[in-house]
Amino acid sequence: MLALLADLRERARSALRPDAWEYYEAGAGDEVTAGEAEAAWRDFRLRPRVLRDVSRVDLRTRALGADLASPFAVAPMAFHALAHPDGECATVRGAGDAGCLTVVSTRASRPLEDVAAAAPGPWWFQAYVMRDRGLTEALVQRAAAAGAGAVVLTVDTPHVGRKQRVGGVRIGIPDDEYLVNLARHLVPGAVGREAAEQDPSLTPDVIGRLAEVGGLPVVVKGVLRGDEALRCVQAGAAGVVVSTHGGRQLDRALPSAHALADVVAAVGDRVPVLVDGGVRSGTDALVALALGATAVLVGRPVLWALAAGGAVAVTEVLEELAADLRHVLALAGATSPADLDPAVVVPRRVDR
Ligand code: FNR
Repeated sequence: MLALLADLRERARSALRPDAWEYYEAGAGDEVTAGEAEAAWRDFRLRPRVLRDVSRVDLRTRALGADLASPFAVAPMAFHALAHPDGECATVRGAGDAGCLTVVSTRASRPLEDVAAAAPGPWWFQAYVMRDRGLTEALVQRAAAAGAGAVVLTVDTPHVGRKQRVGGVRIGIPDDEYLVNLARHLVPGAVGREAAEQDPSLTPDVIGRLAEVGGLPVVVKGVLRGDEALRCVQAGAAGVVVSTHGGRQLDRALPSAHALADVVAAVGDRVPVLVDGGVRSGTDALVALALGATAVLVGRPVLWALAAGGAVAVTEVLEELAADLRHVLALAGATSPADLDPAVVVPRRVDR
């Protein structure tokens, strides 16, 4: 982990309410998957090229029409207001100032329109499909009207994972923040939080439906298998995110770092493949890019930055990751992410 990230993590731990810290940190079950995510990127070794002119390294990345300063983007995460009074508005400002995209969660704690107004650059909207599907469709339409560039449909959450250390799925978030983007669409008289829970009956046709409703590309998040990625692409997905949801859903799921190559082999020639989970340095990202990822989402470190230093620290953390990536790309003999030869990365020999 980069020193700046380790430092922000400690500062966030002191700045956050203890229940908020535990909520951000938690994984599901025994936290096996949550615990393995970072180390899994270190299960690869690099075979650098030499005698290449790497005096200029260009990190600019294009993903579904978004022009980005680097391949780092902010993963969708709930309730940024636990970390900072401006919540997601501060996050998008900080990320935008670093030239990075933010994926804004359905469970954002500030109104979508306010978040959109605060965003200096592109942002995407993460959709959970709720039991009340009209609620999700209204949200997707609002996101499209507010300027979202894509919908990220999270599919690893038919039910919210059980996180033992937070004793349940909800912490002390008041209803007006929990439902800030949802309340106005609930049918009067509906039992608020029930209608706004995830629908466990989703099938691939939901991909086409959301694309039609929002008029935006749909990226499916939470895929760990090539065959499943292919099923999503055949149903109309414009991209996929290889993710274990930060180890917060199915515990003992394969780490994203180990799942990525299979997904790239299945769909990488058709759609962009993004990845997240445990990315804490430029070298972690280099491995992901060499394995065929187009972009890398960063989760918890952004919340640490937000809690420790607001929008400015969010900019700083994303710029530090980009600087580290620029450095290691040059050492590996590549002038851009696209210039990475897949043979640069190999699984580490296991002698244990
Ligand atoms: C998440 N994640 C998540 N994903 C999603 O699709 N919708 C959401 O609302 C949330 N909420 C959320 C809250 C918190 C506190 C965390 C830590 C994570 C998962 C997130 O998008 C991403 O997959 C992981 O966080 C990436 O792993 P790292 O970088 O946190 O290790």
